[in-house]
Amino acid sequence: MKTQIIEINPENPQTDRVRQASDLLKAGKLVAFPTETVYGIGANALSAEAAKAIYQAKGRPGDNPLIVHVANRNQVSDYVEDIGSQAEKLGAAFWPGPLTMIFKKKANIPHQITGGLDTVGIRIPAHPVARAILAECRLPIAAPSANISGRPSPTDFKHVWEDLNGRVDAIIKSGSSQVGLESTVIDMTRPVPVILRPGGISQAMVEAVIGPVEVSRGRLDRGQIPMAPGMKYRHYAPKGRLSLVDQVDFGQRLKALKDLAGEAAGQGKKVGLLVPSQYLAALSQYLCFDLGDENNLEEVARRLFDGLRFMDAKQVEEIFAPTFPEVGMGVAVMNRLRKAASHDRDLQLETQ
Ligand code: TXA
Ligand code: MG
Repeated sequence: MKTQIIEINPENPQTDRVRQASDLLKAGKLVAFPTETVYGIGANALSAEAAKAIYQAKGRPGDNPLIVHVANRNQVSDYVEDIGSQAEKLGAAFWPGPLTMIFKKKANIPHQITGGLDTVGIRIPAHPVARAILAECRLPIAAPSANISGRPSPTDFKHVWEDLNGRVDAIIKSGSSQVGLESTVIDMTRPVPVILRPGGISQAMVEAVIGPVEVSRGRLDRGQIPMAPGMKYRHYAPKGRLSLVDQVDFGQRLKALKDLAGEAAGQGKKVGLLVPSQYLAALSQYLCFDLGDENNLEEVARRLFDGLRFMDAKQVEEIFAPTFPEVGMGVAVMNRLRKAASHDRDLQLETQ
């Protein structure tokens, strides 16, 4: 398949190019497009055929449900049974934005989109290009992250091109994503809502609006039925082995990183370090990727997936990174880092 590139200005989307992308979607084609979290592979969410094409392009198992993106809050009730007052409040507070809410689906969303489930995840993205396309095509658009299953999610056009050239009809070229990690997924079908995947909207932000919620454990026990089907698959995995260094104090973390890198290099391994700017000077003899200011977890989040892909591109075998405080965006950062570092066979059943 020949993949077309459509370049669109991220601040001021050109109407004719937005229409071009929208026409492709209306014709049942696959279009990768930017959102504020990560790029997605979009297709008509009302079409079982389009769903099949997405799973094929991504190499993703068909039981892992897709998120459906809509243009505004009025559209949500077209596709879900009962929104409920808590979800109304969350929608008012965080949409458009990096929040996906799970509801009981209406019959017009095919089971092929939801991986066979009777629920559907809905999100209103904030990225101007995503919003313009959704408004223009007036369709709900199913979109998983635009990576090949098992690779880190794409936060820039160049990542999408790397993974999907030849696999989708078009890729929109529109700079890089502002948040850099996928949306927070929260299940609103339970008496007490459950956060299934931490993301740009933190638990504290959610609780400030609707009161206490639960958080699902990131790891699964063998045999347990996963609540977010995506949780049972291996995610974000770099090809090399990622080890996390968990020391309280900066000096200790630095020393541990140096020791581990030195040891691996001594064994003839290609070593890479995924570290905040503060560490760079002391580790300059090693290949480093700069995650930005360690006190700015938004910046670390924005750069993380690019860093994992950088390590793949350099064919690094042993990757080392420090841990981050699990507050605010740090919860999502650590969730992705732990998954990338997981060598637990049970978590590697398949790839996403
Ligand atoms: O930020 C994002 O959410 C990006 C952009 C493109 O919007 N999309 C994204 O989609 O990350 P994806 O498919 O890579 O991840 C969706 C996650 C998966 O873990 C999936 O299992 C879960 O959300 N999910 C989707 N629908 C669900 C449902 N009905 N019930 C439970 N989990 C669901
Ligand atoms: Mg994904």
